[in-house]
Amino acid sequence: MTPYALLVSPSANRVYARAAAGLTVAELGALGETVLTGRLGEGTTERVAGVDYVTFEGARDDLVLAHLANVSTAFALFERRGDDTFRPLELRRLDCLDDDLLSILKYQGKTNETFTKLLLNVTVLASAAAGRMLTDRLRVLDPLCGRGTTVNQALMYGWHAAGLDLDTADFEAYAAFLPRWLKDKRLKHTATTSRLRRDGRTLGRRLDVELATSKQAWTDGDTITVTTALADTHDAAQVYRAASFDAVVTDAPYGVQHGSRSGGSLQRRPLELLAGALPGWVRLLRPGGAVGIAVNVHTSPRADVLALLADVGLEPRDTPAYRGFEHRVDQAILRDIVVGVKPSGAV
Ligand SMILES: C[S@@+](CC[C@H](N)C(=O)[O-])C[C@H]1O[C@@H](n2cnc3c(N)ncnc32)[C@H](O)[C@@H]1O
Repeated sequence: MTPYALLVSPSANRVYARAAAGLTVAELGALGETVLTGRLGEGTTERVAGVDYVTFEGARDDLVLAHLANVSTAFALFERRGDDTFRPLELRRLDCLDDDLLSILKYQGKTNETFTKLLLNVTVLASAAAGRMLTDRLRVLDPLCGRGTTVNQALMYGWHAAGLDLDTADFEAYAAFLPRWLKDKRLKHTATTSRLRRDGRTLGRRLDVELATSKQAWTDGDTITVTTALADTHDAAQVYRAASFDAVVTDAPYGVQHGSRSGGSLQRRPLELLAGALPGWVRLLRPGGAVGIAVNVHTSPRADVLALLADVGLEPRDTPAYRGFEHRVDQAILRDIVVGVKPSGAV
């Protein structure tokens, strides 16, 4: 086993920066429990020459390095030699687009980008698609997508992404942003917005984007699709095709006021919202697919959310690594990640 030291990204958000090292240890744990079983030791935080690192031992092979490159907080990775020699290792991230895709939009209620990447990673790691995450274009849905932080993170990985939100301002902001960003980057794409109708009734509106990361990819038909819908998440199963997503990944309302984006009573009853919407979300998952939800445990206790997942037939993922994601956001929000997997025999 090789000793490694991972330098955690200096996060723009100071509160998240404080939690980042512990969350990185948990993310490494999720890797060690899934795609890197037997190849990755436990992580710990360690101060070297006045700088904090996450240190651990692991196999020195391409699979380990490829997964480490996509750890949500990974800023730099070193192989440790002796006590004071750090040899830098190249991080070959999956990222296939410029990272300002994630940082340009700034708004109240935006989910921290690094946290969103963590949530996406650990949800997909729990799913049957984990072994394909470095090679295939997976399909991810955020059924409470706001202005698209999860959608954009999935897109960064080159995955097909879909979203849904009932906030008109959010839908319009994203529908204006993505085509403009693609145009600015001179990336080949098509974008259409249309009315969303089912069984003669208007559910809302939808944005459909198809893009390629290069001219050659466009010519070859190697494209990525993005769809976002303006609709109630309780109608998700009427908007998207059943059994068509590898992962459903979402940051649920925290049940506290967030300035003007509080959105009425639904925001204050996050458990009710989850209980009502989860059956539809599960229908959209492929067998073996996973749901990962970020919750405020003050309003949605972990045990209650795990019970809701079990009620809709998901297998809750509650191993030591998956219990390590709780962290403080502010006085009113203690955030956690809750993950459940659709059994592979389920329909
Ligand atoms: C915590 S925010 C998600 C923020 C998002 N991750 C982002 O970075 O933009 C939760 C979202 O749930 C949406 N929401 C709440 N109830 C909903 C419902 N019944 N149907 C669809 N969206 C809903 C809100 O409009 C809000 O955008």
